[in-house]
Amino acid sequence: EEYQMPKEEGIDHSLGLLKEGYHFISNRSKGLQTDVFETRLLGMKVICMGGKEAAEIFYDDKKFQRQHAAPNRVVQTLFGKGGVQALDGKEHRHRKEMFMSVMTQERLGELARITGHQWELALNRWTQVKQVVFYEEVQEILSRAACEWAGVHVEEDDIKETTKNLAAMFESAATAGPKHWVGRNARNQVEKWMTELVENIRNGKVKPQEDTILHRFTWHRDLEGNLLSPETVAVEIINILRPIVAIAIYINFIVLALHENPEVTTKLRSGNDRFIQMFIHEIRRFYPFFPFVAALVKKDFTWRGYDFEKGTLTLLDLYGTNHDTKIWDNPEHFSPERFDKREESLYDFIPQGGGKYLEGHRCAGEQATIEIMKVSLDYVVNKMEYHLPNQDLHFSMTSMPSIPNSKIILENIRRK
Ligand code: HEM
Repeated sequence: EEYQMPKEEGIDHSLGLLKEGYHFISNRSKGLQTDVFETRLLGMKVICMGGKEAAEIFYDDKKFQRQHAAPNRVVQTLFGKGGVQALDGKEHRHRKEMFMSVMTQERLGELARITGHQWELALNRWTQVKQVVFYEEVQEILSRAACEWAGVHVEEDDIKETTKNLAAMFESAATAGPKHWVGRNARNQVEKWMTELVENIRNGKVKPQEDTILHRFTWHRDLEGNLLSPETVAVEIINILRPIVAIAIYINFIVLALHENPEVTTKLRSGNDRFIQMFIHEIRRFYPFFPFVAALVKKDFTWRGYDFEKGTLTLLDLYGTNHDTKIWDNPEHFSPERFDKREESLYDFIPQGGGKYLEGHRCAGEQATIEIMKVSLDYVVNKMEYHLPNQDLHFSMTSMPSIPNSKIILENIRRK
């Protein structure tokens, strides 16, 4: 049986998206009492979906494709051209294998060790000054760690600029005007640097260590046995560096969560691994980061009697699914305990996308994110003392990504 897909009337709702931000899709789902509906954004018909069952459909690669799905402004800042995000089918799987091959237990252990070392060096700096802007400092820790892990050498004089450029790529993806151009410019600069580096490795002028990401990506061969273009290698190395710096956002939310839920700190200090994991999951579920992901309907199909027409842009609501009352009791309450005895599913807890790693587009760095958060949490709760002075800790539900307005000022940092 065929039904008309619930539809939001009106010519265009782009302004609603700007005004309602992370709540745009779920506000309408609640209003129309549906988890799939049609609307219009930027002059186009768009399907919006949320919830576990919708996620399962969205990650079916017979129904949806990623090629041509991302708007140009996102490609020019966040993603880059030719990267894994816009590949489909066999080609995607082969490229994703390249990413997942560097996410082994051993390599992630190395990442954790490198990150811990950078926290040590940062603590040495912080104990010499009265206060620090935590968000910016953590970006620098992570940018240093990311480059070292990937095998990319950065001169000490260049580290601040590199950090700023990597951050600008994810901070500008949802902006317009000057901020958008800062992001494009940052991407152009880093891509040029990485492209030259790859060319210099290939012509023998630079010799990276064999077991590094830089080495592996530079010599990776596609399904036809060809090397990737230097520009594509650059984009994929940036696909490692940039999101590692973005973990600064979650680490800022860790400090905020500890401030707002002081009883949790005691539990975390006891060093119970299971509780630590639950806390990190709850940070990723509760706070806003990636609002939604986009794909195009690959070929006509019907789901629940609704027509999905080939080529229609479709958004899957990540934030809304992580706050869906059908999945979560009291979703607006911060509670790590909710992850105790939870049945695991690939489709209902999706801060970094859903589905499988190799067969789909789920975030290649999810485990790396958790490892880096663990190391950082250990420093924040067990290895340092700090004072959080009066400041504006509110965060916006419309800017993407969102961080506390003050960027978290910490004072009187001491080692413990
Ligand atoms: C894809 C979120 C960290 C590498 C994604 C996607 C999301 C996401 C929502 C898209 C899923 C989809 O298209 O269906 C996040 C968040 C992070 C994070 C919130 C925390 C800061 C990382 C890290 C890395 C990474 C640390 C690498 C070290 C990637 C790659 C993809 C991806 C390569 C593309 C995967 C594909 O298209 O197959 N991430 N990510 N991410 N992420 Fe992450």
